[in-house]
Amino acid sequence: MDADEIRSAFLDHLAGRGHVVIPRASLVPHDDPTTLFTGSGMQPLVPYLLGADHPAGPRLVDSQTCLRAQDIEEVGDNRHTTFFEMLGSWSLGDYFKDEQLRQFWAFLTDTVGLDPARLHVSCFIGDEAHGIPKDEESAALWTELFTAAGLDAGQVDVGSEEHAAQVGTGGARIVFYGAKNWWCREGAAERMPVGEPGGPDTEVFYLFPHVEHDRAYGEHCHPNCDCGRFIELGNSVFMEYRRVEGGFEPLPRRNVDYGGGLERIAAAALDSSDVFRISLLWPIVERLQELSGRAYEDETLAMRVIADHLRGATFLAVDGVRPSNKAQGYVLRRLVRRAVRFALDLGIEDNFFPHVVPTVAAVYASAYPEVAAAADVVADVLAREEHAFRRNLRRGLDRLESHRGSVVTGADLFVLHDTYGFPVELSTEVADAEGIVVSDTWRAEFDEQMAAQRARSRGAVRGPA
Ligand code: ALA
Repeated sequence: MDADEIRSAFLDHLAGRGHVVIPRASLVPHDDPTTLFTGSGMQPLVPYLLGADHPAGPRLVDSQTCLRAQDIEEVGDNRHTTFFEMLGSWSLGDYFKDEQLRQFWAFLTDTVGLDPARLHVSCFIGDEAHGIPKDEESAALWTELFTAAGLDAGQVDVGSEEHAAQVGTGGARIVFYGAKNWWCREGAAERMPVGEPGGPDTEVFYLFPHVEHDRAYGEHCHPNCDCGRFIELGNSVFMEYRRVEGGFEPLPRRNVDYGGGLERIAAAALDSSDVFRISLLWPIVERLQELSGRAYEDETLAMRVIADHLRGATFLAVDGVRPSNKAQGYVLRRLVRRAVRFALDLGIEDNFFPHVVPTVAAVYASAYPEVAAAADVVADVLAREEHAFRRNLRRGLDRLESHRGSVVTGADLFVLHDTYGFPVELSTEVADAEGIVVSDTWRAEFDEQMAAQRARSRGAVRGPA
């Protein structure tokens, strides 16, 4: 099954189990000032997870386009992307663990046809301080499902990822972690604002046995190890708590918030540990191979970065974002400019975005026709941004190079930003990659220069007193 087929099969699988299919929400949340982007399928559904009735009922399913800007610099390995699709299903006070885990298992093993022997799961170990019990119920269900597939599940408590890396899992397929299996939008229970929903989750991982464990990540491999041997396919959040002052209280209804990574499930279906080989990304990589005359095998990092960033930039532009120095526009600018910088590694010196956007539109022709409908406008928006940056790119890189042997300060980074259009994160990344030393205090120095510039421009607008 390719990614389009997996998406359709997921929607059908859940629609056949009483779920109403809802459309994707924009990458730019409309009513949520706390976050720049839709970064998970549940985000547009927060009011309903907190107790409001959804007009389409208590069982919902969708495929939500997501963007996680915090992952920009992670892109380049075999599985991280800033833009991705999350296959989502929800029970708003309807079914709970039993029905959910059976659905999840049936989808992966029967519908997509993944080998159950490659699956491993994690569950929540419990949190005594907050009175939240160990998730024995999910573990018992997983044990039943593994056993029915003729597999010995085994369970082990590891607590933290560090501990798991030290002691290993002893071959158990059900691994209990602590904070890692508590799901909330902020990533950690302590960071949840009062009123925020969250809960324990159980995650499913796929093992790629041909990927050797890399000891740089610890003595032993385990499902949450970052070496690339396991990838997480999806998770079921049992969203039954809300943060209150000093702890948690139960939500009025117990919900299930399921999210599956379409790209990762498609990679597992291909038995490829490299998500860039799937049908949503490989045509973009092929296009880059044609345009550059280089091979993916030789230019893996640059092609992964460019493919991801151009796909993300295209969807941002489709959803109305335009490059700027603020908020969503700044993230779009960073994606475009970082892609242009990596294109130099491929020897692409001319504007190439307009040659790639139609490929992205073709990939999404059936699932998201709005991309093809907006392709000309998007190509124009991105081409202008590319063009503007290319004018100064070489000179900016030379300027950065001129600091070799000394220390790049925040003031130097400000010049690169202000004169050459280098997003500061791009400058520090290039400096790191090139072995050029950046001052430890660059951020404060840079922010000071930015504040002074803002004050100057306010003065200029107001004019003399
Ligand atoms: N909301 C859950 C996630 O983002 C499913 O992983």
